[in-house]
Amino acid sequence: LRHFLGIEGLSRAQLLAIIHKAESFFDDKGQLINSPELEGCTVMNLFFEPSTRTRTTFEVAEKRLGANVLNIDIARSSTQKGESLRDTLWNLQAMTADIFVVRHSASGAAHFMATEVTPDIAIINGGDGWHAHPTQAMLDMLTIHREAPRPFEELTVAIIGDIKHSRVARSDIAALKILGVKEIRVIAPRTLLPKGIERYGVKVFENIDEGVVDCDVLMGLRIQNERIGSPLMAASNEYFKKYGITPERVAKAKPDALVMHPGPMNRGVEIASSVADGPQSVILKQVNNGIAVRMAVLSMAMQGQREYQALRSST
Ligand code: CP
Repeated sequence: LRHFLGIEGLSRAQLLAIIHKAESFFDDKGQLINSPELEGCTVMNLFFEPSTRTRTTFEVAEKRLGANVLNIDIARSSTQKGESLRDTLWNLQAMTADIFVVRHSASGAAHFMATEVTPDIAIINGGDGWHAHPTQAMLDMLTIHREAPRPFEELTVAIIGDIKHSRVARSDIAALKILGVKEIRVIAPRTLLPKGIERYGVKVFENIDEGVVDCDVLMGLRIQNERIGSPLMAASNEYFKKYGITPERVAKAKPDALVMHPGPMNRGVEIASSVADGPQSVILKQVNNGIAVRMAVLSMAMQGQREYQALRSST
């Protein structure tokens, strides 16, 4: 690895390597450890969109790895005076960075940086538009690997909610396919499904009560109102009645099914509070696993970056 832009194109062995590397950052009591693998390296976190979990867990991961960490305050940067993304990045590059972690509302922003603007810096995608959220997918895979009582090949995983506007759904489906789960289901009204979703090899259910039956994992998704022209159903009891993850619906899945959600959650819209906080929920474990996965991705990206820098200085 050097850039980490998406899940598509990675092999099963690469995904398992990230999972195993992430597991190495837990001690035998299940606590996260420090590992100064990025001492002397500089990581800049560039969040052009709001974030709680991704931004903070990247920062915690970077500090646990011993990196010099800079959080660029985009809201107070000269982008607000009209400076372009390209000029902003070139200026930050001139301040010497090894890795940029970037979140941006434009699909393809991380790829654009890695190929066109700052190819000499390792780019990690912290979520771009509707397109991809690869570290979220990997923390979801780590959570399933650590918490599910069966291996990936035996699992039926349902993703429930706004699939159409969700970068998490896209990256999760890609990762679940590469890891070879038995079945991937998507459960949503037609209006919240991308056209031609079936070609991704998923089973589509418009009826949640049918879709959750015998599932091993239920993943809820928020309605992405910021990506929909006009806010859709978010305040509606109707959506919760038709698609909310309720205790009755969880009871239709396997008795040991995991309940997951990438956050942020809208309680009472896509998930009942009693489910989000219930015994089958691993939602906060996902957040903790996010630190380990981000440590793994940062460590692997920096290894690639060191090799790239050595090659450049020798030519
Ligand atoms: N899951 C996720 O990306 O959350 P944040 O938007 O808070 O980073």
